[in-house]
This record gives sequence, C-alpha cells and structure tokens, in this order.
Amino acid sequence: MKKLIVGNWKMNVTSLAKTKKLFNSMKRKIKGLERKAEIVICSPSIYLPNLKTKNSDIILGAQDIFWENEGNFTGNISPLMLKETDCKYIIVGHSERRKHNRETNEMVARKLKAAVSNGFKVILCIGETAIEKKTGQALRILNTQVSKALRRIDDKEVKKVIIAYEPVWAIGTGKPCDVNVVLTQNLLIRGMIKKRYSSRVAQSFQILYGGSVDHSNAKEYIDVARTQGLLIGGASLDSKEFIKIIKSI
Ligand code: PGA
Repeated sequence: MKKLIVGNWKMNVTSLAKTKKLFNSMKRKIKGLERKAEIVICSPSIYLPNLKTKNSDIILGAQDIFWENEGNFTGNISPLMLKETDCKYIIVGHSERRKHNRETNEMVARKLKAAVSNGFKVILCIGETAIEKKTGQALRILNTQVSKALRRIDDKEVKKVIIAYEPVWAIGTGKPCDVNVVLTQNLLIRGMIKKRYSSRVAQSFQILYGGSVDHSNAKEYIDVARTQGLLIGGASLDSKEFIKIIKSI
C-alpha cells in the first residue's frame, strides 16, 4: 500500500491569495515526481472550494468537521458542506482542537462517525501530553482515545479510518519523538485495532506519525518506526521542504 503524507496547514495561511499560491506551487513541484506516497493537503475549510485538484496529484482534506448534517450549530462546518468540495480526507481529534476547543473523546467519536458515514476517510489524531508521558499514563491515554473514538465504528467503516500518533509534546516544538518509541506505540495501537476488529483489519490498518517531522527524520519514521505515513504541520507550509520530505521517503 502507498504511504500517506498529509500536510496540515492549520490556521497559518490567512488569505486566499497566499493559500492558492502555496497550493499551486506544491501542485507544480509534485507533478511528475515519482512518488511512493499519496499526498493530502488539509487546508482551512473556507479555502477548500477554491482549490482545484483536477489533473493534480494532491488530494484535499479538511481539518475538522461537525457531527450533525444541518441545524442550529453556529460556526460549525457540516459534512454536507464539505461534500460539495473536492475534500476526501478529514482530520478529527487533533490535539489543538482537544486543547483550545475542549473537544472530548465523545465529541471526537461523533465527528469520526459523521465523517465516515458521509464517505470521507478520517485521520484520527491521538497522543499523550508531556505530563501524561511523565506520569506513565501514555498507554492508558492512547487506549482510551482509540476505544472511545471507534466505539460506533464497525468492521466495514474502520477501513476508512487512519490513526495518526502525535505525542502532544512533539507537535510544533522541534522535539520529535524517538523513532523507537514511535515503533513501540505503533505496535501497541495496531494491537488495539486487532483486539477490537480482527488480525486482517489490523494488518492493513494505516498508522501515521506526526510531531516535528522534517526531511531529516521523515524516512526513519517510515522505515524504523514502520509507520504508513506522516502528518506534517510546520514543514508543510514550505513547499520546498514538503517536497524534500516526499522525496526522502
Ligand atoms: P508539526 O505539527 O509538524 O508542526 O509538529 C504536526 C501536527 O500538528 O499534526
């Protein structure tokens, strides 16, 4: 299976002109590149309708979704709205949303279900904070995040789910997680999937790593930590660096 490289622009590109410029620059650089990976760019939702993926090797993703299709939910983005764009992937449960928007595992579970039911592929982010790591709670936290998020997801739906292991303390800090630790967590997460579904599901399940990835460490996370791809924040805001990462794996 092809690896998955996902760029998450977060709220960093703040005009349509700059967003299009970055997107088009990536499109040009990726075209014709011999790639071992599927490339996804998660732009702020407001810009998605303006990003055209026709004849391009980039797939669009959204950074979040709401769990209801319609109604009195001020400020939220409905799955139906995202369906009108070229968006195919949706990130749910990113630690920045868990922190700043107080998203609980139950909210993440509802979002995941809504996204999958509407035909999207979902990147479920999980990861422990620095305190949780220090106090030996990492595994318990990961277990809870996985089991709660997947509670309503059956054997068929789980094929649309990808997990991104993102230790919170490694995100945007320039302090990436040790590859051997990622390998261990990767195997443990796969074990959780196996227990919940089956060996067959677990075998083909995609697990990504995210947290201060750049071109110097990307390959190790694939080869040594045996992940199926990467979720990249800061380094996806520079098209040259992002292409270097794609080329490096
Ligand atoms: P980073 O962000 O690559 O800037 O650490 C990763 C993420 O938030 O997914």
